[in-house]
Amino acid sequence: MALPIAVIHGPNLNLLGTREPDVYGATTLADVESHLSVVASELGVELRFTQSNHEGEIVDAIHAAASRARGIVINPGALTHYSIAVRDAVAGVGLATVEVHLSNVHAREAFRHTSVIAPVCVGQIAGFGQDSYRLGLRALVHHLQVQEDAA
Ligand code: DQA
Repeated sequence: MALPIAVIHGPNLNLLGTREPDVYGATTLADVESHLSVVASELGVELRFTQSNHEGEIVDAIHAAASRARGIVINPGALTHYSIAVRDAVAGVGLATVEVHLSNVHAREAFRHTSVIAPVCVGQIAGFGQDSYRLGLRALVHHLQVQEDAA
């Protein structure tokens, strides 16, 4: 059976392709998801995608993942930098979670250097464009396999 993984995109990521192309490139969210699906088939993973511009819907998607998924790849967008609600949701469901960012948030404005989510994640991958998602998915699946082998 394919390993179920939730992929959650936060605010403004629906605008990828036209949004600040100098920062985020020309890739659309549909491109990100279809390229990620190729990696998912290779890894034997089944993905369920959610994008929302609303904090509460991101919290709901994380809660829903608890009963449907074994792990989460999340790009929380700007919520990364201030949403204690998203952090508490990730901590609360206890699923292995990898935070990803298209841009290198650490090389940008100071307010982007802090993630309130990363401390409750397995790790963070930032700065590789859409490859951040692919690397994040591979890292998550590897992490889950290591955990399973140790159990
Ligand atoms: C982002 C980085 C965030 O700082 C920003 O608010 C975004 C996108 C990224 O993928 O690089 O919306 O998460």
